Amino acid sequence: MDERFDVPSLLDELTLEEKASLVSGSGFWWTRRIERLGIGSIQVSDGPHGLRKQERRGDHTGSGDSVPATCFPTASALASTWDRDLVREVGVAIGEEARAQGVAVVLGPGINLKRDPRCGRNFEYLSEDPVVAGELGAAMVHGIQSQGIGTSLKHFAANNQETDRLRVSADIDERPLRELYLGGFERVVRDAGPWTVMCSYNRINGVYASQDPWLLTEVLRGEWGFDGLVVSDWGAVDDPIAAVAAGLDLEMPSTGGASARRIAAAVAAGELDENVLDVAIGRLLQLIGRTMPAVEAGGDLRATEHHALARRAAADAVVVLRNDRDLLPIELAAGRIAVIGAFAAEPRFQGTGSSKVNPLRVDDALTELRRAVAPGVEVTYAPGFGIDDPSADLAGLREEATATATGADLVVCFLGLPPSYESEGYDRDHLDLPAEQVALLDAVAAANDQVVVVLANGGVVAVSEWEQRAGALVEAWLGGQAGGGGVVDVLVGAVDPAGRLAETIPRRLADVPSFANFPGEDRHVRYGEGLFVGYRHHDAVEGPVAYPFGHGCSYTTFAWSDLAVEVLDPTSGGASSWRGDDLVRVRATVANVGERPGRAVAQLYVGRPDAPVPGPPRELRDFAKVALAPGEAAEVTFHLRERDLSVWSPRAAGWVRHPGAVEIAVGASSRDLPLTATVEVPGLPVQLDLDRHSTLAEWLDHPVGHEVLVEAFRRSPAGDLTPLLDDPDRRRMLGSFPLARLVTMLGADGERDVVADLLAQPDA
Ligand code: BGC
Repeated sequence: MDERFDVPSLLDELTLEEKASLVSGSGFWWTRRIERLGIGSIQVSDGPHGLRKQERRGDHTGSGDSVPATCFPTASALASTWDRDLVREVGVAIGEEARAQGVAVVLGPGINLKRDPRCGRNFEYLSEDPVVAGELGAAMVHGIQSQGIGTSLKHFAANNQETDRLRVSADIDERPLRELYLGGFERVVRDAGPWTVMCSYNRINGVYASQDPWLLTEVLRGEWGFDGLVVSDWGAVDDPIAAVAAGLDLEMPSTGGASARRIAAAVAAGELDENVLDVAIGRLLQLIGRTMPAVEAGGDLRATEHHALARRAAADAVVVLRNDRDLLPIELAAGRIAVIGAFAAEPRFQGTGSSKVNPLRVDDALTELRRAVAPGVEVTYAPGFGIDDPSADLAGLREEATATATGADLVVCFLGLPPSYESEGYDRDHLDLPAEQVALLDAVAAANDQVVVVLANGGVVAVSEWEQRAGALVEAWLGGQAGGGGVVDVLVGAVDPAGRLAETIPRRLADVPSFANFPGEDRHVRYGEGLFVGYRHHDAVEGPVAYPFGHGCSYTTFAWSDLAVEVLDPTSGGASSWRGDDLVRVRATVANVGERPGRAVAQLYVGRPDAPVPGPPRELRDFAKVALAPGEAAEVTFHLRERDLSVWSPRAAGWVRHPGAVEIAVGASSRDLPLTATVEVPGLPVQLDLDRHSTLAEWLDHPVGHEVLVEAFRRSPAGDLTPLLDDPDRRRMLGSFPLARLVTMLGADGERDVVADLLAQPDA
C-alpha cells in the first residue's frame, strides 16, 4: 500500500466543507480533488466484463461513447466455465486494461443471485447458487486487484430484479438472506478482500441498502471484516446524511455540491458526528493510496493477447445442452453446411446498459466457421429473421432460409434474444424466443433434419416447446467480442465443451419458484420461496426441468468412482469460516473413458435430511474442474468446513451446525449424482433460551429444561402429569402448546415456578 497520505494531519487540515465534499463524487466517474492538500482524484469505470471508460459525457445507460476495450464474455457466460483460474485470468486482463487506461477501480464483479430468470440483468450476474457466484466473484476480484486496480463488488445486496429497482423493498426472511443473498458477497469479501463494495439501489426489508447501518456496518465490516470503501450505486442515495451515518463512504455520481452542503450543515448542527465523516475520508484516502501506484505506472493494453483470452473464455463458456444424434463436433470433410439465423453474422455478444463495452473488434461465427471447416466444405448463409427489426420481410427471409437449408449436410441455426428483450433497467415478462425464430426453426427443420441450434442470450430461454426439432442444442450465451470464434471452436471440436449450467433452465416460466412473487407490487417484492431458489426448489419438489443446474455435455464420457468420506475432528475454523480445517473430507475419482480429451466439472452437494430445520434436499458446497486425456483418471478432494454444514439460525442469531446425518453426493449436475454416501457429524444442538412462550416440544428438547419440566409435571397441583409425556401421540399433539397456556389448560398452574426453577439451574 502506498503511504502517500498522512491521514491524521490531513484530517486536521481539511475544513468541514472540504470534508463534506469528499464523500461524494466529481462528475460522473471521478472522486473529488483537494488541490491545496495534494489529494488527487481517481477515476472509476464499469465493469464488469470489460472496461467502459468514458472520456467525455458520462452516462450509466450505455448510450454514450467509451474508449475501446476488450469485451470479455458476460457474467452468465463466464460462470458457465466453473473455472476459477480462467475467471482470474480474465480479471488480470481487465486489470491490465484499467492500468493502461488510467482507471483506478473497475465497477464489478456483479454477483447478485439469479433469483428469477426474468431479471433483465441476469447476463451481468453469475449464478443462482451463492457458492458458484462467490467462488468465481472472488476469482475475478483476485485477478483485477493483482494488477493494483480496485474492484467494486456489486450490487450489495438483494438487487435481484430491475423492475422498480430504485425503490422496491426486497422482503426476505433472515435465513435465505444470510445463506443465499448475502452468502456470495460474504465469500468474496472474506476470501478476496475487494477494495470497494457498491451498495444497491433497492431497499431490503424496508431500508435502503445505501442507508442501512446493519448491512453496511454491522454485517459487512463488523462481521465480515471488510476494510475498504462503500460506494453507492449511481443515484442510490436518498438521504446523504443517513447514508454517511450508516457507513457509506462515497456517493456517486456528483450531486453538484447538494449532498456536501447538507452533510456539512448536519455536522455543524450536531446531527452527524464529524468522526463518521473522518472515517469515510480515511477510507477514500486509503483507496487512492491503494490504486495510485498502478494508475501512475500504467501499462499495455495487450489487445491481441486479450482477444485470444476472450476467445478461450467464450469457448469454455459454451454449454452443449444436448447432442443426441452426435451431430457435434462437426467433422465433415466435404459437403455443405447451411448457416441460418442473423446472429451468425451480426453477433449479440453483450448486454445493454452500464456494462456495455466498446469492443476493440468483433468476430462473428459465420466468418469463423468458414475459416474452421475443411477446405472441401462449403458454408452457405441465410439470416432467416431480422434482429429487432419490425420492418423485416419475415416470410421472404424464412423462404430463403428454408431453401438454403434444403439439401445441406448440416444446418447450424443461430437463434437468440434480440437486445430489446433483456437489458439493465427492465425485466422480461416471459422466457420465450421471438415467435418468428421458432417459426423459422420449424420451417428449416421440416426441410432438413440435421439441425444444430446455437443460442445467444444473457438470461435463460425456455426451450422445451421447440427443442426436439433440433438434434443438438448449444447454449453460447453472450460470449463477448470473440464469442463467434469461441463457439466455433466448440462446434468443430477444437475445444471440448466444458461449460456447465450455473443456473437451471426451467421447462416453463410457471415452474420457476418465484413465479408468483415477481416483480412484486406497491414497492415490495416478497421472496416467498425462501431458500428454495433455482435447483433448490426443483430438486425439493422433484419437478421436471429442461436442463438441470450443473448440466453440460462433453464430447467424451466421464465415469465416477471411489467415493471416500472422512469425518475429521477439526481444531480450527469457526462457523464463520470456509477456510478453517476440514470437518469432512470427500474424495472421488473421475475418469475419462471416452476417446477425446475433455474436462469434467466435479460437483459436491450436501443435504441434511434430519436437521431440525427444513432445507433444500441438496446444496452445492464445492466444485473442481479437471482436465483429462482419454483413459486418464484423477482423484478430486473436496473440503467441507464448519460453515458448509451450518445453517443460519435467526433464534440463535448465528450459524449453527446441527448434529446428525450429512448426505454427500458427487457427480456432474444436481440431477446426475452417481456417488452418494451418508455420514454422521457431531454438532451443537441449538440451545434456545426458554421462556413461558416456549412450546412443550422446545422444553422437552432442551437438556436442562427437560428435567425441570418433568419434575414440575410430576408435582403439579393437578396430580402427576408425566404419563401424558409417555404417550407419544399426545406428546406430539401437545408439542406446539406454549408452556404458559398448556399448564393453565391442564389446571396445573405454577408456570412461573417452572420458569423460575429453570433459571435457577446453573447450565440453563
Ligand atoms: C448500475 C451499476 C453501474 C453504475 C455506473 C448503475 O446504473 O446499476 O452497475 O456500475 O450505474 O454506471
